[in-house]
Amino acid sequence: MPEITTPRDLFVHELGDILYVERKLAEETLPKLIHEVADEEFRSGLESHLEETRGHVANVERVFELLGEEPRAEKCIGFEGLKQEHDQLVEESSSSLIDIVDVGAAARTENYEIAAYEGLRRMAKAMGQEEAVGLLDENLKQEKETLREVEKIATRLSNESAKQPSSA
Ligand SMILES: [Fe+2]
Ligand SMILES: [Fe+2]
Repeated sequence: MPEITTPRDLFVHELGDILYVERKLAEETLPKLIHEVADEEFRSGLESHLEETRGHVANVERVFELLGEEPRAEKCIGFEGLKQEHDQLVEESSSSLIDIVDVGAAARTENYEIAAYEGLRRMAKAMGQEEAVGLLDENLKQEKETLREVEKIATRLSNESAKQPSSA
């Protein structure tokens, strides 16, 4: 027998999935990236997104409460895959390219979060959970703004690095 049998079950499961991602980002991944990058603008962008991400955790926990559920994180295999891919690429790349590797990982993560929140807000809307829709939209809006910032930085870093003579 499948354990996820209703749209509500699926919603709660996917909410647990994004809770896992947001908590990991807030507690581990973003602090690690902030430490890793050299570019000033990129680092300060990551720092402000860390603040926002703490708010994302709180909003997702609040959506659980609105549904009368205990916040429960589900291990997100998609995010773990992104993280693994990033860690491997960092190991394989020379230090002058780390910022570009990291900005690529940030863009992938934002796109993942955006897809997750769009799915969740669609399900919440269909269930008539208007307050949940509002909280999910807050997170979604910030992810979209962050992706735009990340893309701007990615373009600048790529242009700058293409002008550098190749070095180790
Ligand atoms: Fe987030
Ligand atoms: Fe994000």
